[in-house]
Amino acid sequence: MNPNQSSASPLRSVSLNINGRSVHIEAEDNTPLVYILRDALGLKGTRLGCGQSQCGACHVMLDGVSVPSCDTPLWAAENKALITIEGLGQPDALHALQQAFIDEQAAQCGYCVSGILVSAAALLAKCPQPSEAQVREALDAHLCRCGAHNRMVRAVLKAAAGVQA
Ligand code: FES
Ligand code: FES
Repeated sequence: MNPNQSSASPLRSVSLNINGRSVHIEAEDNTPLVYILRDALGLKGTRLGCGQSQCGACHVMLDGVSVPSCDTPLWAAENKALITIEGLGQPDALHALQQAFIDEQAAQCGYCVSGILVSAAALLAKCPQPSEAQVREALDAHLCRCGAHNRMVRAVLKAAAGVQA
């Protein structure tokens, strides 16, 4: 299940707070969070890309900080507020960023978008009116093979401005 683990670590019961819900997981301590989210909990919105902390596809928010879940062991998330893309908004109540991405048609294939939305949400939570440079810096860790970065930056600025299409 997890190609990144070189040696087994002990099984442990870990308490997680995911999108405001308490969850108990029994797994090897060093299991990268992305496998827990996708395989054990069925939260497939978090994407697995490089698996090496290089692409940004797997980002989730831990205590308000956007982190690569492929490089975050299960134990590091214990008793922290973990937000995944599923926790940002609902189909009938989209997060302002999700609406702005739709309005700006900011996604193409969409594979990178979950991680980018999480990082953008972390940015807006601590800096509600970012400059374009701040948005670009916040998204710097994220690769987009479709080359949609400029539209995504526009969408983040639009969400920050509270502008609806
Ligand atoms: S899959 Fe985690 S950074 Fe690429
Ligand atoms: S929209 Fe396709 S990789 Fe970013």
